[in-house]
Amino acid sequence: MGDKNSSVLIAEPRGGWHDSLSRALPGGGSEVVAAHGAAEAVTVGRSLQPELALVDLGLSHDCSLVADLLAACPETKIVAVFDSAEGFPDGLSDVMALGAVAVVERTTLATDLFPVLGTRASGPLGPLDPAAVPTDRYIDLRNRHDQQRRVTSRALCAALEARDFATGQHQNRVTRLATSCMRLIDAPRAVSDEVVYGFMLHDVGKIGVPDYILLKPGPLDYWEFEMMRAHPKLGLQIAEPGGFSQETLDVILNHHERWDGFGYPRGLSSDEIPLAARVFSVADAYDAMTSDRPYRSAMSPGDALHIIRSGSGCAFDPEVVDSFLNLEFLGSPGVGLGGNG
Ligand SMILES: [Fe+2]
Repeated sequence: MGDKNSSVLIAEPRGGWHDSLSRALPGGGSEVVAAHGAAEAVTVGRSLQPELALVDLGLSHDCSLVADLLAACPETKIVAVFDSAEGFPDGLSDVMALGAVAVVERTTLATDLFPVLGTRASGPLGPLDPAAVPTDRYIDLRNRHDQQRRVTSRALCAALEARDFATGQHQNRVTRLATSCMRLIDAPRAVSDEVVYGFMLHDVGKIGVPDYILLKPGPLDYWEFEMMRAHPKLGLQIAEPGGFSQETLDVILNHHERWDGFGYPRGLSSDEIPLAARVFSVADAYDAMTSDRPYRSAMSPGDALHIIRSGSGCAFDPEVVDSFLNLEFLGSPGVGLGGNG
């Protein structure tokens, strides 16, 4: 069993990194252990519990070795290594989200990694500093991942708006409402991309609902309503490949759950429903009630707030309702008015 405060696992098919790092690391307290296959790396990681693991992503087809290693040694800081000459491996965009602290190209020299590993004469590694790696050799997957999600989110919103303009307008209004309410409950999460993507994409599953139901100018019959009720699960299927976080997917899947357990699709109740989805459902209901529909006119903000208040503890989380009712701008012109919900 190695010293978890100083050991380094090198998981790579060849021995170049192990040899150079073994030579270059300061002596005394540094154990550098090699593994040349994915299974071996996981076995060594589990027994060694290294502080650091350099993982060649070529050892697994889909970057799953990073996840497997984090399961085997959760405290280990993982620097993922890939060879850009061989193209981007499947799953590369997920590596940072999985928990790797940095991703570097294989052409990065071992000695260039020392700023990342933290300088040390002896003792444990310092905090990792990915920014210290030469920028031309370092790929900030988190930025790339964020950009990918931004683009995907915009494309999905545009696709939904193209199917149904009113639904597209609704998603913008309700995102503002839900974000304002979330700010009163959990301010940091109100500005979290993960939550905002969930608000924006909550109805993306409606892309998969047939036009004759989605655009029907009147109340839905039983089977049509059942098909409409499938949109949270459809939304999950559509958004999941886009690299969105679980928090985002939670809003999409659970935004029609009810506090009393009579919602859909899973019938979750109270705290089983993720907070962001509980917040969103109140904002969604308010916006739906204060919006014109082909078969009815918009309700006044005052009447809608009265119904929201009545739903506290049955349809809605009481704490969320209290916060929502404290939103000072509700009822002011332009907020929660107009369009289909
Ligand atoms: Fe919905």
